[in-house]
Amino acid sequence: MANKLFSSFKIKDVELKNRIVMSPMSMHSSDEEGEVKNFHLTHYTSRALGQAGLIFLETLIVNPNGLVGPGDLGIWDDKHIKGLRNLVEQIQSFGSKVGAQIGHAGRLAKKEGVDLIAPSPIPFNESKKTPVEMTKEDIHKFIIEYKNAARRAKEANFDVLEIHCAHGYLLNEFLSPLSNHRTDEYGGSFKKRYQIVKEIIDVVNEEWNGPLFVRISATDYHKDGNTNETYVEYAKLMKVQGVDLVDCSSGGIAPVKVDSYPNYQVPAADKIKNIVNIPTGAVGLITTGRQAEEILKNNRADLIFVGREFLKNPFWPRQAAEELKVDIETPVQYTRYGSKWLAH
Ligand SMILES: Cc1cc2nc3c(=O)[nH]c(=O)nc-3n(C[C@H](O)[C@H](O)[C@H](O)COP(=O)(O)O)c2cc1C
Repeated sequence: MANKLFSSFKIKDVELKNRIVMSPMSMHSSDEEGEVKNFHLTHYTSRALGQAGLIFLETLIVNPNGLVGPGDLGIWDDKHIKGLRNLVEQIQSFGSKVGAQIGHAGRLAKKEGVDLIAPSPIPFNESKKTPVEMTKEDIHKFIIEYKNAARRAKEANFDVLEIHCAHGYLLNEFLSPLSNHRTDEYGGSFKKRYQIVKEIIDVVNEEWNGPLFVRISATDYHKDGNTNETYVEYAKLMKVQGVDLVDCSSGGIAPVKVDSYPNYQVPAADKIKNIVNIPTGAVGLITTGRQAEEILKNNRADLIFVGREFLKNPFWPRQAAEELKVDIETPVQYTRYGSKWLAH
């Protein structure tokens, strides 16, 4: 049977040349304005030369008070479109597709002098500030910020859009019963905790008609929190709303130490894919081509998201290809002097 990691994958009109995705990773290399810098051009285009099928930029922040950390890239204003469009074009010119992950850090936001916001006034842990409970008006404004971010992502020519609902940030805080104690239509039952995500997907769909992914934390690692089974049910709702792929990460809501090991998050991607019949992405300590191939060939996920290995090695796809004995494209500049690849 042919190799799967280097087979193409089509979602809507977007065709990825392989199943390797550079996972979103905040680089904190912008400034207060959240604009694209030379660092971003160098960092992301080198992974395009390295033959990633899809490159996610780090979380793009939908409101300047929702920073994951200082120096995050922004998508909260139309002024960001130009820099993002240029970055997207540069990456695409080397054959990779580009994803925008949009998010807000909620009660984990790092911005001096502003109140933290969250579904309920529950701090992450004892040493963190207590957030202010969002009013319904805040929630409605926040939903519009996502709509605007989706419009800007479209104007900047991104190929894929991902809504960040993971890692203990704002939308994850709504989904989890540990952080959402609301008694209005945005909290309480499992379905009501999903209400804000539902409304965001609806408004995003008004602006964005390309591939739409959602990143989830498929377990809270807590006896009173969400589990893989809860997310099977959430993924069913996402599928009805036209979400194309569920990107399965985990944790971040509860201050617990996560026991991570190779493929530790793959069972969630497997379960959601096979029970809900929706494409999934697997992520987390996937470091070798053989590991990735096993996940794909056994139909446990459709895309392989690679994080830290891509930080160590922009040419990780080539390393995986050599391991799997697959011949992949070489950037034309590297084929001069008769050598297909200098290492040979
Ligand atoms: C420096 C760094 C920054 C990260 N930033 C983000 C981010 O912006 N959005 C996100 O969803 N995940 C983020 N992550 C998580 C990664 O996308 C990925 O899920 C995680 O590192 C596990 O994959 P890995 O074992 O291949 O690194 C970050 C991880 C690292 C190491």
